[in-house]
Amino acid sequence: MNQQVQAMYDKMRAKLEKVVPDVELRIKAEIAVEINALKAERNAVILGHNYMEPALFYSIPDFVGDSLDLSRKAAQTDKDVIVFCGVRFMAETAKLLNPTKTVLLPSEKAGCSLAASITAQDVRDLKALFPGVPVVTYVNTYADVKAESDICCTSGNAMAVVQSLNTDKVIFLPDEYLAGNVARKMGWKIIFPDLALTPAPLPVGEGKTMIGWRGRCEVHEKFTVNDIQTVRAQFPDVAVLAHPECSPDVTAASDFSGSTNAMIKYVKESTAPQYLVLTECSMGDNIAAENPQKDMLRLCMIRCPHMNTITMEDTLNALKLNRYVIEVPEDIRVRAARSVQRMIEIG
Ligand code: 13P
Ligand code: SF4
Repeated sequence: MNQQVQAMYDKMRAKLEKVVPDVELRIKAEIAVEINALKAERNAVILGHNYMEPALFYSIPDFVGDSLDLSRKAAQTDKDVIVFCGVRFMAETAKLLNPTKTVLLPSEKAGCSLAASITAQDVRDLKALFPGVPVVTYVNTYADVKAESDICCTSGNAMAVVQSLNTDKVIFLPDEYLAGNVARKMGWKIIFPDLALTPAPLPVGEGKTMIGWRGRCEVHEKFTVNDIQTVRAQFPDVAVLAHPECSPDVTAASDFSGSTNAMIKYVKESTAPQYLVLTECSMGDNIAAENPQKDMLRLCMIRCPHMNTITMEDTLNALKLNRYVIEVPEDIRVRAARSVQRMIEIG
């Protein structure tokens, strides 16, 4: 082991010795040193989502965080290249906000079931159905969908974004469960129009109403109330944390629901005997590494197949081979960036 690899291995081991076996740490430390050298050579910044696997998460990113955090970092960076260790819609958001930079996504397969659940034409059809009703779009969508929207939101600021509109009707896309969770917290009713059945403009009716869409996260939709009850039967005082992409029944049966950053903060600041995080399992590892004295439970039979395509090996190749470059047509970019920028201004 040369000196640089030894230093990287020591740094990773200090965090990860209880989470990642030594044999893997040695290999990953070598790759991390190679990545960091190329990163400096190419004047690049690496952004890592909270779902990245622990060896990657604790070695190569300059910044880690949730979608909101990372979009802010992407907007602020003066580096030439942004490597996004996350999924395509996140890398696209970086390109929207900082268009002169080269944005690289290490895997072509890093999609998202929510982003795939809705098209720009669907949004245009909904706007025709509910004229004048503002459209709030979750950042887990592609640029052409954001371009049709008034403002974006993340799981961390969805309620603040809806409140900022000062209105009693909102089209909230595309996550059925995030919309349901936000509507319940705000005391709004929620409806799900069927575009095929209702081609003409629709009266929404009285009262505060959210118009939703039946998109779902293929990961979070799988957690059930029965999962929570079963874990509670085994660990009666466990604190259960659920991402707001879980169903409203699941978030109601949990002790806390919030964005990936909010869940990390909750574990750090509380004192339960065990924690169960209902979200991508790697994040449980990353929290365990940061809080070695805390007992983390996770249901790793449920994984995000998209986030998990991002490896350190692919990140190295992204920098070596300049791949996969994210491009967004300029007319779409300008309109989509406006929706994201409006969200960032709210905070
Ligand atoms: P956060 O914005 O909470 O990081 O969530 C992103 C995501 O894709 C959750 O599945
Ligand atoms: Fe998309 Fe769900 Fe994966 Fe997040 S966890 S990237 S919402 S499929």
